[in-house]
Amino acid sequence: MHQNLLKYKHYRYLKLFLVLAVASIALYFSQGEDQPANGGTLQGYILGITSAFFILLLTFLGIRKRSYSSNMGTVEGWTSAHVFLGTSLLLITTLHAAFQVGWNVHTLAYILMLAVIFSGFFGLFAYMHYPRILSSNNNGTSQDQWFDDLQEIDEKIKNLAISCRTGVRLMVLSAIENTQLDSTLFKQLRGKDGSKIRLQSGSKQLVTNKNQEIIIDILSTAIPNSQKQAEASALNEILTLFSRRQRLLKIIRRTLQVKAYLKAWLIFHIPITIALLAALIVHILVVFIYW
Ligand code: HEM
Ligand code: HEM
Repeated sequence: MHQNLLKYKHYRYLKLFLVLAVASIALYFSQGEDQPANGGTLQGYILGITSAFFILLLTFLGIRKRSYSSNMGTVEGWTSAHVFLGTSLLLITTLHAAFQVGWNVHTLAYILMLAVIFSGFFGLFAYMHYPRILSSNNNGTSQDQWFDDLQEIDEKIKNLAISCRTGVRLMVLSAIENTQLDSTLFKQLRGKDGSKIRLQSGSKQLVTNKNQEIIIDILSTAIPNSQKQAEASALNEILTLFSRRQRLLKIIRRTLQVKAYLKAWLIFHIPITIALLAALIVHILVVFIYW
């Protein structure tokens, strides 16, 4: 588990979180002499404006982050600040509203905010469990590299297969051609390996070649039955390449799956943020019109 995110720069944002918590609780309890605690007192306004400012800041930081995602340190700092300031809103906004939540437009903003924050905890979980996958792939370089490696291996295998007898060659080519890496978000989330292979030339029937296991078995049994030395050495090399291919495909599939989790999560986190901003504008307009 990746702890740096929460410990970033000697708990910088945890300390900020604690200062904010103490200050807002003190501010809340300083109300009450002339007017009971609520969003419309001076302290209520300070807590409300701070909440709204943080919401805008978190939205901005979220968007801004995309442009400097190549530097892991910065991403960590950003995410750490985002997490602690986001969580502090649970307290600051609840104190601003003075616990007066009912079924109205103000509470709509509050509920949407809770939805963004609690969905944020899931994103945080992903960041803490898969930091390497997410950071190395934010700018796409490692992923592109993996696809290049895969293509290179496939080319080598195809060239070597020329020295093999027809039956084995066709199975090797079929295993490459029918390797599946999922392209849709839903399939990536499932992370199931749908790779197939044709065992009999001319037949339309494809059977599962999950994790490249069938072709690796076929190659292992074909090596001792080789009739020529050239074929035996080509098959040996092909087998080694297929083992590398197997490992590479596993990494790519897992990476696509984790990235798909995060994509699916953002499909929730971002639109709810937009809905929150809209509800916040309505809340502020309503209090200024009716207050
Ligand atoms: C510029 C920022 C803000 C201003 C000026 C502001 C203003 C106010 C005012 C004047 C009230 C008292 C209304 C009343 O008692 O009827 C209030 C209440 C409330 N505010 Fe805000 N607010 C701000 C930000 C926020 C934010 C960010 C949230 C949550 C996302 C929020 C949620 C609420 C809730 C739930 C109440 C209680 C409503 C009730 O009494 O039923 N406010 N706000
Ligand atoms: C009201 C509070 C919040 C708002 C308005 C907000 C908004 C956003 C926005 C707009 C993004 C940008 C997504 C993108 O374009 O890539 C984002 C990303 C993120 N948020 Fe929040 N968020 C809030 C609270 C939280 C909380 C409390 C957590 C965690 C406890 C959290 C965790 C994350 C994470 C991990 C990302 C990074 C996703 C990525 O890098 O792709 N958020 N948030």
